[in-house]
Amino acid sequence: MKRLTVPKVMQRKNDGTTEEPLVMLTAYTARMAQLLDAHCDILLVGDSLGQVIYGLPSTLPVTLDMMVAHGAAVVRGSYHSLVVIDMPFGSYEASPQQAFASASRIMAETGAAAVKLEGGVAMAETVRFLSQRGIPVMGHVGLTPQAVNALGGYMARGRSEVEEARIVEDGKAVADAGAFAVVVEGVVEDIAITLTRELAVPTIGIGGSAQCDGQVLVAEDMLGMFERTPRFVKRYNDLARIISDTAGEFAAEVRSRSFPGDAQVYKAK
Ligand code: KIV
Ligand code: NA
Repeated sequence: MKRLTVPKVMQRKNDGTTEEPLVMLTAYTARMAQLLDAHCDILLVGDSLGQVIYGLPSTLPVTLDMMVAHGAAVVRGSYHSLVVIDMPFGSYEASPQQAFASASRIMAETGAAAVKLEGGVAMAETVRFLSQRGIPVMGHVGLTPQAVNALGGYMARGRSEVEEARIVEDGKAVADAGAFAVVVEGVVEDIAITLTRELAVPTIGIGGSAQCDGQVLVAEDMLGMFERTPRFVKRYNDLARIISDTAGEFAAEVRSRSFPGDAQVYKAK
């Protein structure tokens, strides 16, 4: 199967009749990409890998090198989904030129077909600069985790009319600038519905609305590998318990000398 392309994703804009919502999950490793690929339209190498893989307190310390290493692994581990790679904090905000240098490195060194960056009106010029130079950009508005210090936390956005209007403007600005899709994260539902109605490109919700043109979750959140997750996460499984139980079983067998058993030992002929 050929990889889903950016134009094909754009064509999937929900026209309210036939189109199926886009399915997007994060992946940071080749193995996870292999497991998720067939089920997804888009695999996102999110900078959430800072917390999930590296135990960092936020996404802010994530580097371009990390994104390139994990992005290349996810491209190697998938063949069906469009792979989108997050631009890390500090790699794109200074200027369109800085963003182009970072994004072109990400694409050249990973083989991914698109990048994602956070921000609205302030990033529109950069989105336009990249889009017009062969770098497809996915936007990301609403709760933008790289702005946690400015926002004061990870609470839902758009609870005041002023903020609601600002987030709608942000989404329109990046879509008008050429973003091929826009992630709408952690907003009161009306905002996600308005953006889905008004943008010509797909909206992908996370803490958005069921009416968005697609949905995304952090795979580890979906799998139940974290203790604490935001309201917008639905845990479809409890991998944390499965992993812990399995490690406990292994440890008990080692300590009782029942592992390795005869089946795991090489015998002389
Ligand atoms: O980094 C990430 O995982 C993301 C998604 C939550 C949209 O940006
Ligand atoms: Na991200």
